[in-house]
Amino acid sequence: MARIPTLILGGTGYVAGELLRLVLGHPQFEVAGILSDSQPGEPVAKAFPHLAPALGDLRFLSEADITQRVTTLPACALFSAAPHGVSAALIDRLLAAAAAAGTRPRVVDISADYRYATPEAYAAVYKHAHGAPARIAEFTCAVPEHLAAAPTPHVAHPGCFATATLLASVPLLALDLVVPTLFVSGVTGSTGSGRKPVEGTHHPTRHSDLYSYNALVHRHIPEITACAAAATGVTADFAFVPHSGPFARGIHATVQATLKRAIDTPTLLAQLRSYYAHSPFVRVTDAAPRVKDVAGSNYAQLSAATNGRTVAVLCAIDNLNKGAAGGAVQWMNRLFDLPETAGLTAPAAGWT
Ligand SMILES: NC(=O)c1ccc[n+]([C@@H]2O[C@H](COP(=O)([O-])OP(=O)(O)OC[C@H]3O[C@@H](n4cnc5c(N)ncnc54)[C@H](OP(=O)(O)O)[C@@H]3O)[C@@H](O)[C@H]2O)c1
Repeated sequence: MARIPTLILGGTGYVAGELLRLVLGHPQFEVAGILSDSQPGEPVAKAFPHLAPALGDLRFLSEADITQRVTTLPACALFSAAPHGVSAALIDRLLAAAAAAGTRPRVVDISADYRYATPEAYAAVYKHAHGAPARIAEFTCAVPEHLAAAPTPHVAHPGCFATATLLASVPLLALDLVVPTLFVSGVTGSTGSGRKPVEGTHHPTRHSDLYSYNALVHRHIPEITACAAAATGVTADFAFVPHSGPFARGIHATVQATLKRAIDTPTLLAQLRSYYAHSPFVRVTDAAPRVKDVAGSNYAQLSAATNGRTVAVLCAIDNLNKGAAGGAVQWMNRLFDLPETAGLTAPAAGWT
C-alpha cells in the first residue's frame, strides 16, 4: 500500500513536535510537510533536536507551500496543532483550496476551534468569534474510545484534560452507576501550556510546586460536558479543578462521584474492564495509575476505588500523546481505514 502523505500545522509547537515523532515512526503515514508561521525555510531539527536523527534536512514550509501540497496531493492526512483562534481559519483556507483543486484531505484538528457544535458556544468560551463557522458541521468532536466512527469527514480531538476526564467519567455515566454530578481534580505537566514561557507556566515557577488554577471555571468544562453527553446521553455537572504539576509530560485526573447503589471495588474494576474491552489503548489496573507509566505513549491507565456509595476513578495519560497527537493519529488511522493502533503501540519510556 502506498504511504499516505501527511501535513502538519503548528510548526515549532510541542504538539506539532509530538505529531512529527509519531508520523516519522508510522507504518503508513509519511511526512509531506510541516508548516511554521514564524520559521519557514528553517531546519525542523533546530526546533526539535530530539528528532534530528530521523529528520534529515527537512525544513519548515510556508502556508503557500502547504497550500501547494494540499492542492496537488489527491489525498492527504492533515493534522492541525495550531493555536485556537488560528486553526479554524487556516484549515478553512486549505480545505477551500483543496475543494477548488478537486483534492480530498482528511483533517484532525487538535486545537479547540472545531470542538463546539455552534459558533456561539465557541465564542462564549474563547471570547472571540469563530474563524470559520460554516465549517463546524464538517467536524465531530470525541475521544476515539467513545465513538466508533466519525459521521463527518473531519474530526476535532478533545483537549488533554478533557480526554483524561472523559476516559474516567464516561463509563460511570454510560453504565448509570452515579448521580450525574462529578468532581474532578486534574494535574498537568508543564508541556500542557505550550512552548512559549509565560509567568505562571515558566519552569522556576512550576518546579517543586503544586497549585490549582481556574478552579471550577476552566475552559475545558463545556467540552467535557458536551462530549460526555454525546457519549452517554446524560448531561452531567462537572466540577473541575485543574492543577499545575511539577513535571513536563502527563496528566493525572481523579473523578469522584456518588454511586446510585453501593458496589465494591473489584466489581467496579470489572465493569470498567468490560466497558473498555475493545479499546486497545485503555488499561484498567488494580494498582493506582502513575504518570511515568504512560508518559510518551498513547496508553491511558485507569483504576478505581469505592467505599460505600463513594467512587473515585483515576486516570493517567500523556497530555501531548494520548491527549493530543496520539489521539489525533488514532482518529486519522480510522479516517484512512487503517488499524486503529497503527504507529501507536510503543509503550512508555519509563523513568522519563
Ligand atoms: N500542549 C498540550 O498538552 C495540548 C494538548 C491538547 C491540545 N493542545 C492544543 O494543541 C495546539 C498546540 O498546542 P502546543 O502546546 O503545541 O502549543 P505551542 O507549543 O504554543 O505551539 C503552537 C505553535 O503554533 C504555531 N503558530 C503560532 N501562531 C501561528 C499562526 N498565526 N499560524 C500558524 N501557526 C501558528 C507556532 O509555531 P510556528 O510559529 O512555528 O508556526 C507555535 O509554536 C493548541 O491549539 C493547544 O490548545 C495542546
